[in-house]
Amino acid sequence: MSELDRLREEACACTRCALAPTRTQVVFGVGNPDAALLFVGEGPGREEDLAGEPFVGRSGRLLDQLMDQELGWDRQACYIANVVKCRPPGNRDPQPAEMEACRPYLDRQISIIAPHVVVSLGNVATRALLGIAEGIRNVRGKAYPFPASFPLADGWIVPTYHPAFALRAGGDAVAEMRADLIRAKRLLATTAV
Ligand code: URA
Repeated sequence: MSELDRLREEACACTRCALAPTRTQVVFGVGNPDAALLFVGEGPGREEDLAGEPFVGRSGRLLDQLMDQELGWDRQACYIANVVKCRPPGNRDPQPAEMEACRPYLDRQISIIAPHVVVSLGNVATRALLGIAEGIRNVRGKAYPFPASFPLADGWIVPTYHPAFALRAGGDAVAEMRADLIRAKRLLATTAV
């Protein structure tokens, strides 16, 4: 069994926070365990909780479409995970204690997958990964080297909107997400092999 599969098993039995009793399934992540590109969202919604896979609802369809159109990739070529692996009831934001309890899983996913570029989707993921309090509107539009607190050296975080926000906001936000994915693609081309 691979290290990532062992971690998945561990996460699937997790009871570290208040989200455990209300989840249907742990939504660990999906994709290529050696991916150079990792997407990180906030946490599973209703459809993800039922399916056991991240971003399978409307937001996920937009993410798949933008990934295909701007990178020529499908979700099996990259890896998709969330800051919290269990659904916050009513799709509320995950609470600080829940994010803290779940963080070791995300950190270990990052160290095992060792992506060159991490695209953070929306405020929750961007704040958690960059360790900042600023909102996505102020920080998107450029790439940030992995911070010192990151479980991996030498790579880039590309913040972008959460696809659920882009669906609501429409035109400009979708165009900005496209620009962010093109930024990620350029950085991927700088990956040492
Ligand atoms: N929103 C997220 O942040 N993650 C998902 O997996 C689905 C919706």
